[in-house]
Amino acid sequence: MKTDKKINRQWLLARRPVGTLTSEDFEYKESAVPTPSEGEVLVRMLYFGYDASQRLWISEHGGYMKPVQVGEPIRCMGIGQVVSSRHADYAEGDLVDGFFSWQDYVVTKPDAQMPLRILPKADYPLSWNLGVFGVGGLTAYFGVTDVLRVKPGDTVVVSAATGATGSIAGDICKALGAKQVIGFAGGPEKCRWILEKAHFDAAIDYKNDDVEQRLRELCPDGVDAYYDNAGGDILDTMFLHMAPRGRMVLCGAMSSDYSDMDGFQGPKNYVLAITKMLRMEGVHLFFYRDRLAEGVAQLARWVEEGKVHVEECLYEGFEKAPELLASVFTGKRPGKMVLKVGDPE
Ligand SMILES: NC(=O)c1ccc[n+]([C@@H]2O[C@H](COP(=O)([O-])OP(=O)(O)OC[C@H]3O[C@@H](n4cnc5c(N)ncnc54)[C@H](OP(=O)(O)O)[C@@H]3O)[C@@H](O)[C@H]2O)c1
Repeated sequence: MKTDKKINRQWLLARRPVGTLTSEDFEYKESAVPTPSEGEVLVRMLYFGYDASQRLWISEHGGYMKPVQVGEPIRCMGIGQVVSSRHADYAEGDLVDGFFSWQDYVVTKPDAQMPLRILPKADYPLSWNLGVFGVGGLTAYFGVTDVLRVKPGDTVVVSAATGATGSIAGDICKALGAKQVIGFAGGPEKCRWILEKAHFDAAIDYKNDDVEQRLRELCPDGVDAYYDNAGGDILDTMFLHMAPRGRMVLCGAMSSDYSDMDGFQGPKNYVLAITKMLRMEGVHLFFYRDRLAEGVAQLARWVEEGKVHVEECLYEGFEKAPELLASVFTGKRPGKMVLKVGDPE
Protein backbone atom coordinates (compact mmCIF):
# COMPACT_ATOMS: atom_id res chain seq x y z
CA MET A 1 0.00 0.00 0.00
CA LYS A 2 2.33 2.74 -1.18
CA THR A 3 1.39 6.40 -1.14
CA ASP A 4 0.81 7.79 -4.61
CA LYS A 5 -0.59 11.30 -4.82
CA LYS A 6 -2.72 10.38 -7.86
CA ILE A 7 -4.42 7.46 -6.11
CA ASN A 8 -6.98 7.59 -3.34
CA ARG A 9 -6.54 4.57 -1.06
CA GLN A 10 -9.78 3.68 0.74
CA TRP A 11 -11.08 1.29 3.38
CA LEU A 12 -14.75 0.61 2.62
CA LEU A 13 -17.46 -1.18 4.56
CA ALA A 14 -17.66 -4.58 2.81
CA ARG A 15 -20.75 -5.86 4.65
CA ARG A 16 -22.84 -5.08 7.71
CA PRO A 17 -20.70 -6.49 10.58
CA VAL A 18 -22.21 -8.87 13.14
CA GLY A 19 -20.70 -8.81 16.66
CA THR A 20 -16.89 -8.75 16.77
CA LEU A 21 -15.25 -7.08 13.76
CA THR A 22 -13.23 -9.22 11.34
CA SER A 23 -11.08 -8.36 8.31
CA GLU A 24 -13.94 -9.52 6.00
CA ASP A 25 -16.02 -6.56 7.17
CA PHE A 26 -13.66 -4.19 5.33
CA GLU A 27 -12.58 -3.88 1.70
CA TYR A 28 -9.46 -2.12 0.41
CA LYS A 29 -9.91 -0.13 -2.81
CA GLU A 30 -7.97 2.39 -4.87
CA SER A 31 -9.85 5.12 -6.72
CA ALA A 32 -9.27 8.50 -8.36
CA VAL A 33 -8.68 11.58 -6.21
CA PRO A 34 -12.07 13.38 -5.93
CA THR A 35 -12.72 17.04 -6.85
CA PRO A 36 -14.54 19.46 -4.53
CA SER A 37 -17.70 21.30 -5.67
CA GLU A 38 -18.75 24.81 -4.64
CA GLY A 39 -18.75 25.12 -0.80
CA GLU A 40 -16.54 22.03 -0.33
CA VAL A 41 -12.88 21.41 0.47
CA LEU A 42 -10.59 18.54 -0.52
CA VAL A 43 -8.50 17.28 2.40
CA ARG A 44 -5.52 14.91 2.37
CA MET A 45 -5.63 12.77 5.49
CA LEU A 46 -2.74 12.70 7.99
CA TYR A 47 -4.22 11.02 11.11
CA PHE A 48 -7.23 8.81 11.85
CA GLY A 49 -8.61 8.87 15.41
CA TYR A 50 -10.33 5.85 17.00
CA ASP A 51 -13.53 5.78 19.04
CA ALA A 52 -16.04 3.11 20.07
CA SER A 53 -18.77 5.10 18.27
CA GLN A 54 -17.27 4.09 14.93
CA ARG A 55 -18.56 0.56 15.59
CA LEU A 56 -22.07 1.99 16.00
CA TRP A 57 -21.79 4.12 12.85
CA ILE A 58 -21.22 0.98 10.74
CA SER A 59 -24.22 -0.79 12.31
CA GLU A 60 -27.70 -0.82 10.71
CA HIS A 61 -28.93 1.93 13.06
CA GLY A 62 -25.85 4.16 13.04
CA GLY A 63 -26.50 5.53 16.55
CA TYR A 64 -26.43 9.32 16.68
CA MET A 65 -25.16 9.69 13.09
CA LYS A 66 -26.29 8.45 9.67
CA PRO A 67 -25.15 4.82 9.31
CA VAL A 68 -22.19 4.21 6.99
CA GLN A 69 -23.58 2.19 4.04
CA VAL A 70 -21.97 -0.93 2.58
CA GLY A 71 -19.51 0.28 -0.09
CA GLU A 72 -18.84 3.61 1.67
CA PRO A 73 -15.54 4.52 3.40
CA ILE A 74 -15.49 4.10 7.19
CA ARG A 75 -16.19 7.37 9.03
CA CYS A 76 -13.66 8.62 11.60
CA MET A 77 -12.56 11.75 13.35
CA GLY A 78 -9.28 12.79 11.79
CA ILE A 79 -6.71 15.42 10.94
CA GLY A 80 -5.80 16.43 7.41
CA GLN A 81 -4.43 19.19 5.23
CA VAL A 82 -6.50 21.17 2.74
CA VAL A 83 -5.36 20.40 -0.81
CA SER A 84 -7.89 22.58 -2.60
CA SER A 85 -10.74 24.72 -1.33
CA ARG A 86 -13.98 26.02 -2.79
CA HIS A 87 -15.05 27.46 0.57
CA ALA A 88 -14.16 31.04 1.56
CA ASP A 89 -13.09 30.12 5.12
CA TYR A 90 -10.47 27.51 4.14
CA ALA A 91 -7.27 27.83 2.14
CA GLU A 92 -4.84 25.38 0.59
CA GLY A 93 -2.34 24.23 3.23
CA ASP A 94 -4.65 24.70 6.24
CA LEU A 95 -4.40 21.90 8.80
CA VAL A 96 -7.92 20.88 9.85
CA ASP A 97 -9.72 18.36 12.03
CA GLY A 98 -13.26 17.05 12.02
CA PHE A 99 -15.30 14.16 10.64
CA PHE A 100 -13.59 12.40 7.73
CA SER A 101 -13.24 8.78 6.59
CA TRP A 102 -10.61 6.12 5.96
CA GLN A 103 -9.28 7.46 2.67
CA ASP A 104 -6.23 9.44 1.56
CA TYR A 105 -8.46 12.18 0.14
CA VAL A 106 -11.82 13.32 1.50
CA VAL A 107 -14.16 15.93 0.06
CA THR A 108 -16.03 17.56 2.91
CA LYS A 109 -18.55 20.31 3.56
CA PRO A 110 -17.39 22.35 6.57
CA ASP A 111 -20.93 22.95 7.94
CA ALA A 112 -21.41 19.43 9.36
CA GLN A 113 -22.53 18.62 12.95
CA MET A 114 -19.06 19.49 14.25
CA PRO A 115 -17.07 22.38 12.78
CA LEU A 116 -14.12 21.66 10.50
CA ARG A 117 -11.58 23.25 12.86
CA ILE A 118 -8.57 25.06 11.45
CA LEU A 119 -5.74 23.96 13.74
CA PRO A 120 -3.42 26.59 15.16
CA LYS A 121 0.34 26.44 14.60
CA ALA A 122 1.55 24.96 17.88
CA ASP A 123 4.62 23.52 19.56
CA TYR A 124 2.85 20.27 20.52
CA PRO A 125 2.34 17.26 18.22
CA LEU A 126 -0.39 17.69 15.60
CA SER A 127 -2.06 14.44 16.69
CA TRP A 128 -2.85 15.90 20.12
CA ASN A 129 -5.72 17.70 18.40
CA LEU A 130 -7.48 14.33 18.26
CA GLY A 131 -6.75 13.45 21.90
CA VAL A 132 -6.27 15.94 24.69
CA PHE A 133 -7.46 18.87 22.52
CA GLY A 134 -9.95 16.73 20.61
CA VAL A 135 -13.02 14.65 21.32
CA GLY A 136 -11.64 12.83 24.40
CA GLY A 137 -10.11 15.79 26.22
CA LEU A 138 -12.92 18.19 25.37
CA THR A 139 -15.71 15.79 26.33
CA ALA A 140 -13.90 15.13 29.60
CA TYR A 141 -13.55 18.89 30.15
CA PHE A 142 -17.23 19.71 29.60
CA GLY A 143 -18.39 16.50 31.26
CA VAL A 144 -16.48 17.29 34.45
CA THR A 145 -16.86 21.08 34.62
CA ASP A 146 -20.33 21.63 33.13
CA VAL A 147 -22.21 18.41 33.93
CA LEU A 148 -20.57 16.85 37.00
CA ARG A 149 -19.52 20.26 38.34
CA VAL A 150 -16.72 18.75 40.41
CA LYS A 151 -15.64 20.94 43.32
CA PRO A 152 -12.86 20.90 45.93
CA GLY A 153 -13.33 18.10 48.46
CA ASP A 154 -15.36 15.81 46.18
CA THR A 155 -14.77 12.06 46.00
CA VAL A 156 -14.93 11.13 42.31
CA VAL A 157 -14.92 7.81 40.45
CA VAL A 158 -14.12 7.48 36.72
CA SER A 159 -14.61 4.31 34.66
CA ALA A 160 -12.47 3.38 31.61
CA ALA A 161 -9.80 5.47 33.34
CA THR A 162 -7.02 4.43 30.95
CA GLY A 163 -9.04 5.67 27.96
CA ALA A 164 -8.58 8.90 26.04
CA THR A 165 -11.54 10.46 27.85
CA GLY A 166 -11.41 8.85 31.29
CA SER A 167 -7.74 9.51 31.94
CA ILE A 168 -8.17 13.21 31.25
CA ALA A 169 -11.44 13.37 33.19
CA GLY A 170 -9.57 12.06 36.26
CA ASP A 171 -6.77 14.61 35.84
CA ILE A 172 -9.28 17.45 35.49
CA CYS A 173 -11.05 16.39 38.70
CA LYS A 174 -7.70 16.52 40.55
CA ALA A 175 -6.89 19.90 38.99
CA LEU A 176 -10.24 21.19 40.29
CA GLY A 177 -9.36 20.12 43.84
CA ALA A 178 -11.22 16.82 44.23
CA LYS A 179 -10.25 15.14 47.50
CA GLN A 180 -9.95 11.67 46.00
CA VAL A 181 -10.15 10.45 42.40
CA ILE A 182 -10.57 6.72 41.86
CA GLY A 183 -10.34 5.02 38.48
CA PHE A 184 -11.57 1.70 37.09
CA ALA A 185 -9.03 -0.10 34.91
CA GLY A 186 -8.68 -3.64 33.56
CA GLY A 187 -5.73 -5.54 35.08
CA PRO A 188 -2.81 -4.67 37.39
CA GLU A 189 -0.65 -3.03 34.71
CA LYS A 190 -3.39 -0.61 33.69
CA CYS A 191 -4.19 0.12 37.35
CA ARG A 192 -0.52 1.00 37.85
CA TRP A 193 -0.65 3.29 34.81
CA ILE A 194 -3.49 5.44 36.15
CA LEU A 195 -1.65 5.86 39.47
CA GLU A 196 1.82 6.50 38.05
CA LYS A 197 1.09 8.40 34.82
CA ALA A 198 -2.35 9.92 35.25
CA HIS A 199 -3.04 11.60 38.60
CA PHE A 200 -5.51 9.14 40.14
CA ASP A 201 -5.33 8.47 43.90
CA ALA A 202 -6.56 4.89 43.74
CA ALA A 203 -7.39 2.22 41.18
CA ILE A 204 -9.99 -0.54 41.09
CA ASP A 205 -9.21 -3.50 38.84
CA TYR A 206 -12.69 -4.26 37.52
CA LYS A 207 -11.49 -7.54 36.01
CA ASN A 208 -9.95 -9.01 39.19
CA ASP A 209 -10.98 -7.05 42.31
CA ASP A 210 -14.11 -7.41 44.40
CA VAL A 211 -15.45 -4.09 43.11
CA GLU A 212 -18.07 -3.68 45.85
CA GLN A 213 -15.53 -4.31 48.59
CA ARG A 214 -12.99 -1.86 47.09
CA LEU A 215 -15.63 0.87 46.80
CA ARG A 216 -16.67 0.32 50.43
CA GLU A 217 -13.03 0.61 51.55
CA LEU A 218 -12.12 3.62 49.41
CA CYS A 219 -15.35 5.63 49.71
CA PRO A 220 -16.88 4.96 53.14
CA ASP A 221 -18.89 8.20 52.91
CA GLY A 222 -20.05 7.57 49.35
CA VAL A 223 -19.14 8.96 45.94
CA ASP A 224 -20.02 12.58 45.14
CA ALA A 225 -19.46 12.43 41.38
CA TYR A 226 -19.21 9.50 38.95
CA TYR A 227 -17.93 9.85 35.36
CA ASP A 228 -19.36 6.84 33.50
CA ASN A 229 -17.63 5.52 30.40
CA ALA A 230 -18.61 1.92 31.08
CA GLY A 231 -22.36 1.45 31.70
CA GLY A 232 -23.40 -2.15 32.44
CA ASP A 233 -22.46 -3.78 35.75
CA ILE A 234 -20.09 -0.98 36.79
CA LEU A 235 -22.85 1.61 36.48
CA ASP A 236 -25.24 -0.65 38.40
CA THR A 237 -22.72 -1.00 41.22
CA MET A 238 -22.04 2.73 41.33
CA PHE A 239 -25.71 3.45 42.22
CA LEU A 240 -25.11 1.50 45.44
CA HIS A 241 -22.13 3.66 46.41
CA MET A 242 -23.28 7.16 45.47
CA ALA A 243 -23.58 9.71 48.29
CA PRO A 244 -26.93 11.49 48.76
CA ARG A 245 -27.37 14.17 46.05
CA GLY A 246 -24.46 12.63 44.10
CA ARG A 247 -24.00 13.42 40.41
CA MET A 248 -23.41 11.04 37.52
CA VAL A 249 -22.44 11.88 33.97
CA LEU A 250 -23.08 9.30 31.24
CA CYS A 251 -20.39 9.60 28.57
CA GLY A 252 -19.86 6.11 27.11
CA ALA A 253 -20.80 2.45 27.50
CA MET A 254 -17.62 0.41 27.01
CA SER A 255 -19.20 -2.66 28.65
CA SER A 256 -21.23 -3.04 25.43
CA ASP A 257 -19.75 -4.00 22.05
CA TYR A 258 -21.51 -1.07 20.30
CA SER A 259 -22.67 -3.48 17.59
CA ASP A 260 -26.28 -2.25 17.72
CA MET A 261 -28.57 -0.01 19.75
CA ASP A 262 -30.35 -2.98 21.42
CA GLY A 263 -27.12 -4.19 23.02
CA PHE A 264 -26.81 -1.50 25.71
CA GLN A 265 -27.69 -2.75 29.21
CA GLY A 266 -29.93 -0.31 31.08
CA PRO A 267 -29.27 0.50 34.77
CA LYS A 268 -30.88 -2.03 37.14
CA ASN A 269 -30.46 -0.01 40.33
CA TYR A 270 -31.78 3.27 39.01
CA VAL A 271 -34.47 3.54 41.72
CA LEU A 272 -31.65 4.55 44.08
CA ALA A 273 -31.56 7.79 42.11
CA ILE A 274 -34.91 8.55 43.73
CA THR A 275 -34.06 7.76 47.33
CA LYS A 276 -30.58 9.34 47.17
CA MET A 277 -31.85 12.23 45.05
CA LEU A 278 -29.09 11.68 42.47
CA ARG A 279 -28.65 13.75 39.31
CA MET A 280 -27.83 11.70 36.20
CA GLU A 281 -27.11 13.49 32.94
CA GLY A 282 -25.49 12.69 29.61
CA VAL A 283 -22.72 14.59 27.89
CA HIS A 284 -22.16 14.91 24.17
CA LEU A 285 -19.57 17.11 22.51
CA PHE A 286 -21.97 18.19 19.72
CA PHE A 287 -23.72 20.37 22.35
CA TYR A 288 -20.48 22.26 23.04
CA ARG A 289 -19.51 22.97 19.43
CA ASP A 290 -19.44 26.74 20.14
CA ARG A 291 -17.22 26.40 23.24
CA LEU A 292 -14.40 24.20 21.91
CA ALA A 293 -11.80 27.00 22.01
CA GLU A 294 -12.54 27.63 25.70
CA GLY A 295 -11.94 23.95 26.48
CA VAL A 296 -8.71 23.80 24.48
CA ALA A 297 -7.35 26.92 26.22
CA GLN A 298 -7.99 25.56 29.73
CA LEU A 299 -6.67 22.08 28.89
CA ALA A 300 -3.51 23.65 27.42
CA ARG A 301 -2.93 25.53 30.69
CA TRP A 302 -3.31 22.33 32.70
CA VAL A 303 -0.99 20.41 30.36
CA GLU A 304 1.62 23.14 30.74
CA GLU A 305 1.29 23.05 34.53
CA GLY A 306 1.75 19.26 34.50
CA LYS A 307 -1.78 18.69 35.83
CA VAL A 308 -3.05 16.87 32.75
CA HIS A 309 -0.98 13.97 31.46
CA VAL A 310 -1.04 13.38 27.69
CA GLU A 311 -0.73 9.82 26.46
CA GLU A 312 -1.03 8.60 22.88
CA CYS A 313 -1.28 5.11 21.55
CA LEU A 314 0.17 5.97 18.16
CA TYR A 315 0.44 3.68 15.12
CA GLU A 316 1.55 4.30 11.57
CA GLY A 317 0.41 2.82 8.24
CA PHE A 318 -2.84 3.05 6.26
CA GLU A 319 -3.07 -0.76 6.12
CA LYS A 320 -3.59 -0.94 9.91
CA ALA A 321 -6.87 1.02 9.94
CA PRO A 322 -9.34 -1.93 10.29
CA GLU A 323 -7.43 -4.06 12.81
CA LEU A 324 -7.04 -1.08 15.18
CA LEU A 325 -10.80 -0.50 15.33
CA ALA A 326 -11.35 -4.02 16.65
CA SER A 327 -8.75 -3.41 19.38
CA VAL A 328 -10.83 -0.58 20.92
CA PHE A 329 -13.01 -3.39 22.36
CA THR A 330 -10.48 -6.17 22.84
CA GLY A 331 -7.92 -4.15 24.83
CA LYS A 332 -5.75 -1.26 23.74
CA ARG A 333 -2.87 0.58 25.38
CA PRO A 334 -3.72 3.60 27.55
CA GLY A 335 -4.37 6.98 25.93
CA LYS A 336 -5.79 8.20 22.65
CA MET A 337 -5.42 5.73 19.80
CA VAL A 338 -4.31 7.46 16.62
CA LEU A 339 -3.13 6.14 13.24
CA LYS A 340 -0.70 8.25 11.22
CA VAL A 341 -1.29 7.93 7.48
CA GLY A 342 0.55 10.95 6.06
CA ASP A 343 2.80 13.94 6.72
CA PRO A 344 1.85 17.59 6.26
CA GLU A 345 3.59 19.55 3.50
N1 LIG B 1 -20.31 11.45 24.80
C1 LIG B 1 -19.31 11.87 24.05
O1 LIG B 1 -19.36 12.95 23.43
C2 LIG B 1 -18.09 11.01 23.99
C3 LIG B 1 -16.86 11.53 23.59
C4 LIG B 1 -15.72 10.71 23.64
C5 LIG B 1 -15.86 9.38 24.05
N2 LIG B 1 -17.09 8.91 24.39
C6 LIG B 1 -17.26 7.53 24.83
O2 LIG B 1 -16.53 7.35 26.03
C7 LIG B 1 -16.06 6.01 26.14
C8 LIG B 1 -14.56 6.02 26.36
O3 LIG B 1 -13.95 6.58 25.22
P1 LIG B 1 -12.37 6.75 25.13
O4 LIG B 1 -12.10 7.43 23.84
O5 LIG B 1 -11.89 7.30 26.40
O6 LIG B 1 -11.92 5.25 25.08
P2 LIG B 1 -10.62 4.54 24.47
O7 LIG B 1 -9.44 5.44 24.55
O8 LIG B 1 -10.99 3.93 23.18
O9 LIG B 1 -10.43 3.39 25.53
C9 LIG B 1 -11.41 2.44 25.76
C10 LIG B 1 -11.50 2.27 27.25
O10 LIG B 1 -12.56 1.39 27.57
C11 LIG B 1 -12.14 0.54 28.64
N3 LIG B 1 -12.94 -0.69 28.55
C12 LIG B 1 -12.94 -1.61 27.55
N4 LIG B 1 -13.83 -2.57 27.81
C13 LIG B 1 -14.40 -2.26 29.00
C14 LIG B 1 -15.42 -2.86 29.82
N5 LIG B 1 -16.01 -4.00 29.44
N6 LIG B 1 -15.75 -2.26 30.98
C15 LIG B 1 -15.16 -1.13 31.37
N7 LIG B 1 -14.20 -0.50 30.65
C16 LIG B 1 -13.84 -1.06 29.48
C17 LIG B 1 -10.66 0.34 28.41
O11 LIG B 1 -10.04 0.14 29.64
P3 LIG B 1 -9.27 -1.19 30.09
O12 LIG B 1 -8.34 -1.53 28.96
O13 LIG B 1 -8.63 -0.78 31.33
O14 LIG B 1 -10.35 -2.21 30.26
C18 LIG B 1 -10.24 1.71 27.84
O15 LIG B 1 -9.87 2.58 28.87
C19 LIG B 1 -16.47 5.33 24.84
O16 LIG B 1 -17.66 4.65 25.09
C20 LIG B 1 -16.69 6.49 23.88
O17 LIG B 1 -17.59 6.17 22.85
C21 LIG B 1 -18.19 9.69 24.38
